[in-house]
Amino acid sequence: MYVERLHLVNFRNYREITLDLGEGVNLVIGQNGQGKTNLLEGLFFISRFRGRPFSKITDLVQQGQPYFAVGAVICSSVRKVKISAMFGRGVRKIILDGSEKESVSAVRGILKAVMFSPEDINLISGEPYLRRSFLDSTIELVDPVYVTKKLAYKRALLQRNAVLSKWEIRGNALSAALEPWNIALAECGTYLMEKRRDFLLLAEQVLRKEYAILSGAEQDISISYASSVARQSWEETMAVSKEAFLNSLNKNIQEDVKARCTTIGPHRDDFILMVSGKDARRFMSQGERRTAAYCLRTAEARYIFDKTGEKPVLLLDDVMSELDSGRVKRFARSSFFVEQVFITDTSLDRACEFPISRVIEVERGTARVG
Ligand SMILES: Nc1ncnc2c1ncn2[C@@H]1O[C@H](COP(=O)(O)OP(=O)(O)O)[C@@H](O)[C@H]1O
Ligand SMILES: [Mg+2]
Repeated sequence: MYVERLHLVNFRNYREITLDLGEGVNLVIGQNGQGKTNLLEGLFFISRFRGRPFSKITDLVQQGQPYFAVGAVICSSVRKVKISAMFGRGVRKIILDGSEKESVSAVRGILKAVMFSPEDINLISGEPYLRRSFLDSTIELVDPVYVTKKLAYKRALLQRNAVLSKWEIRGNALSAALEPWNIALAECGTYLMEKRRDFLLLAEQVLRKEYAILSGAEQDISISYASSVARQSWEETMAVSKEAFLNSLNKNIQEDVKARCTTIGPHRDDFILMVSGKDARRFMSQGERRTAAYCLRTAEARYIFDKTGEKPVLLLDDVMSELDSGRVKRFARSSFFVEQVFITDTSLDRACEFPISRVIEVERGTARVG
């Protein structure tokens, strides 16, 4: 799929821009601090309708402005749609093909985009919540059931934690008060874990192939889901049934009482990437972690393609400066199973590795197709 037209108003450092875009490689060129990342973030926002990790929706509004607006014409293999949306203090408007929608769920995921950014290195070495949010945002894009199950899970978790925090409820009364929330957590939680497992199985395959291409050497790579519910091996963990989840919750009550919150469940899970038998978080060099992070994003793109049949739009922010030229070349060859790519760089020099369709020049919050 591809974005045919992009419109941003009061979005970060853009006052107002309209760009006519198209398939192929769109090169976004400009000096540092001009708005290249912001342009990609605008596209990413139209895909997910939420900020990226570390950025809130309120950060996206241009300083001093009351709202921002985004719009796009998106061409998929089956249809062309027009999305526009406006967010701000007391403002929230979502329009899909001319008709107003109540909720962002009507437009979220229509544009399937994957963003590669230098911060992705945190996917490997950062806190577990970053990896969980990576899993969730990938799966949510293609699976609306996952979205509702996760919401229901969150609600049950809040209720269960509220019960745990009340000192006056203890003993049998406590077990009884927790019971309905245990059931809800087990029901929704197993779904979340199953879907995460599906994705990670694919990610493992993608990493084995892509990591070798990017690094130029075969590596023994494995990804395992580290579950807090069943602290066993990969296979056993994955076989977690609702009953096993319920048992674990019941067994864990004393610890939860001490912590005054629910200490097991997909909200505490993680995944572990092993390269040649070593934990990537601790034993990989900066460059290797970067490569692994790119491979995880490639897995995200692959997953979206497999689940929807649509080739996602790739947003590659600063990949050129992140990867050495050998890697850039291999990267150019490995990930172009897409219809539209945006690549940022400060000059045209390194971009000659790519078959460029369009150059977008960015300067102090203005952008034009050259
Ligand atoms: N909400 C905002 N309002 C106004 N300017 C912003 C906002 N958020 C970021 N900026 C500005 O955008 C510029 C950075 O743009 P960015 O896209 O990161 O540049 P680069 O071209 O280096 O990728 C900075 O000057 C920053 O101050
Ligand atoms: Mg940037």
